[in-house]
Amino acid sequence: MQTILTGIRANEEPTLGNFLGAYLPTIRLAKEHAADSHINMFIPDLHSFTTPIDHSKLYSQIIKGVKYYLAAGLDATQPNIHIYRQSRVSAHSEMCWILDCFTYFGEASRMTQFKEKSAEHADAITVGLFNYPVLMAADILLYDAKYIPLGEDQFQHLELARNIAIRMNNKFDQALFTIPAPEKEQIKFMHLEQGLRIRSLTEPSKKMSKSSENAKSKISLNDDPAQAAKKIMSATTDSVGVIKFDMVNQPGISNLLQIEALLNDRPLQDLIADWAGQSSYGDLKRKVADSVQSFLSLFQEKVSQITDAEVEAILKQGESYANHAANQKLHHVQRALGLRPSDSQTSPTQPEH
Ligand code: TYM
Repeated sequence: MQTILTGIRANEEPTLGNFLGAYLPTIRLAKEHAADSHINMFIPDLHSFTTPIDHSKLYSQIIKGVKYYLAAGLDATQPNIHIYRQSRVSAHSEMCWILDCFTYFGEASRMTQFKEKSAEHADAITVGLFNYPVLMAADILLYDAKYIPLGEDQFQHLELARNIAIRMNNKFDQALFTIPAPEKEQIKFMHLEQGLRIRSLTEPSKKMSKSSENAKSKISLNDDPAQAAKKIMSATTDSVGVIKFDMVNQPGISNLLQIEALLNDRPLQDLIADWAGQSSYGDLKRKVADSVQSFLSLFQEKVSQITDAEVEAILKQGESYANHAANQKLHHVQRALGLRPSDSQTSPTQPEH
């Protein structure tokens, strides 16, 4: 059975960008494929402190991260849907070390997110930040995941995971890892025309980022819905004066059209056609502001109804599955690397130590 897998970090409050770029596509795919695929939606909690955070809040943020998956519509009662914490499946860390030794320093150095984040945190560039994409590769390859719903900013990391998998399969055993599908196939699988990049509301040439210190640039999932609507009303647009989808010349307006389409589950092309030729940016903003406000009210209401006890029970089940699946893969790789005897070196009467 194929695996569809994704993770959303819990150290900062997720944004509408995370929701539209990763939660929504994954949950749609889960609804479509829960009968024929494993759906792993996990919390990459070891990825939370590659840059400095307030550790006293981390645990409650992790639990809240799971509530967000459920409130967004992930049905944890389905037997093939697995929710777990990366830190509770120690095979992730062990596999990361193994993959580290088959990742070239040069290729890891080319990761643009590392370059950007290390510029932002010049006083605290850790080895963890550098190694972040290799741990991400371990998260993916441990479960033979083929489809990884991601926002556009993460495709370079996916490419690294593919390269490591191809390299190790060539060296050891063609069946060591499933090679994740390439970017184009991922986008098609998500029923999209291109990778998603929701833009900052104040600087629409950049992506909406949860680590941005400017609260007006982003809609966080715990924002007061009325305040969030105000942020949309004051979003930066342009002086062209015609509503058109043109991410290069009119990124602010295009971003609003994109948000409106995704929140209402409508094809972008339909929405573009609805607004074609119109000129009132205010009308479009009011429409998007209403959509964002009602989305957040409903979402937050759902989050408030989920108890910590429910989350604990779901994690217990998910982590039992994940440990079993991940350890099987880890042992296979350990055998290929010579850390365990190969099948021909183990006799039924002399079990492996
Ligand atoms: P994180 O938490 O930074 O981002 C989570 C997901 O949100 C997407 N995203 C966006 N999509 C559209 N528009 C935006 N403005 C926007 N901002 C963020 C990201 O592309 C991502 O899909 N490294 C991962 C976490 C991770 C992971 C994994 C994911 C760790 N291991 C294994 C998949 C598989 C990350 O970026 O998290």
